[in-house]
Amino acid sequence: MHEEKPFFMRDPWVYDPQHRPTPRPDAHLGFDTRALHAGFHPLKDVERFRAFVPPIVQSMTYPYERFDRFPDYIYGRSKTPTVSILEERLASLEGGEAAVTASSGSQALFSLISTIARPGDNVVTSLNIFGEGYKQAATIFPERCNVTFRFVKDPTDPASWAEQIDGRTRLVWVETPSNPCLFITDIRAVAEVAHAHGVPLLVDNTIATAALQRPMELGADIVLLSITKFLSGNATVLGGAIVGPEALVEDIRWNTIEFTGAIMQPFEAWLTLQFLETLSLRMERHSANAQAVAEFLAQHPRVLHVNFPGLPDHPQHDLAQRQMKAPGGLLSFVVPGGIEGAARVMDNLHLIVHAVTFGTSRTICMHPATITHEHMTPEERAAAGIDDGLIRLSVGLEDPEDIIADLDQALSRL
Ligand SMILES: Cc1ncc(COP(=O)(O)O)c(C=O)c1O
Repeated sequence: MHEEKPFFMRDPWVYDPQHRPTPRPDAHLGFDTRALHAGFHPLKDVERFRAFVPPIVQSMTYPYERFDRFPDYIYGRSKTPTVSILEERLASLEGGEAAVTASSGSQALFSLISTIARPGDNVVTSLNIFGEGYKQAATIFPERCNVTFRFVKDPTDPASWAEQIDGRTRLVWVETPSNPCLFITDIRAVAEVAHAHGVPLLVDNTIATAALQRPMELGADIVLLSITKFLSGNATVLGGAIVGPEALVEDIRWNTIEFTGAIMQPFEAWLTLQFLETLSLRMERHSANAQAVAEFLAQHPRVLHVNFPGLPDHPQHDLAQRQMKAPGGLLSFVVPGGIEGAARVMDNLHLIVHAVTFGTSRTICMHPATITHEHMTPEERAAAGIDDGLIRLSVGLEDPEDIIADLDQALSRL
């Protein structure tokens, strides 16, 4: 009889709420030690190199020793050695079993959802999500794959999350803090709701990074990362990752990425490994500088509102203090005059650069209503707090007095 060839190279992942992650062998080491050592030991791991710095293995194919023996690495579409070191390091820092990289954070989200959802399934999230994530949720998945996204009405209320979940929900997806309004979602509370319905929780940890927030310790099953932002830290790398149970990671790798090649490349992985060495130090300084800038903006007469979890009047300030080690380097603020007001301030900045990213060592500003969240309807933007006068500011590592002086002179032109 003709035996049907299996379509999948690995068994598709099935979420098991009882599954407890296997502890990683380096779990006893501190975070900063793991940021420097996880995934690579100069003497043990790469026998031929014996190098202090992890090597860049820029080869996209790996020879078979014998016809019937698969090498560890086969072809660059699924994994390569330098990228594997980075994947180990990211899994270690987030406290997950395993990680798979992607060519961007947006691609990591796409690879995850296209792996676990089938036509007719849904994903529950809120409007507090990054622009490309919203575009996938509002267009690509529903229109082309019949996977729908449900936006909870009141993300501060666990019952509002529970209301949207049904038997076809494959994932609950939370971004906290969120881009661009720094909304904080209670990870532990939403994890409880998701798990009570037998659904895994995804937390996007791009803005805090594992240096400031460990979603898995609070109940998250899966973590989404854009490496492009604070993890690399200077706009030299485009990349992303999914951290989670090994069976899920291998499902994504072998049943989606191996067919599409949407994985990170060795040089980008190598650069990221260098930048991760200073992640904790950078996040501490980003947070301290952002705190100083947020306090300056909060008392400025031409600023209507500031979103920053480190300010005592942020609606989820207490939750942020419980959930995060420090408030992070991203904030946003509203100036009067809508789009024209924002343009006037941004065009008068000299030190601060107007550009589309965040998490860089140099301070960057951006206008969400016209650049990243322009596809939301005006009603959705209003519900997400994205005013026409909102400016997103990623506070860098400059002397904070210089950042403040630049903002002060630009605001005086309003
Ligand atoms: C919170 C968050 N997650 C993920 C992404 C996607 O990352 P990338 O730009 O690497 O695709 C972004 C991008 O802005 C983001 O802000």
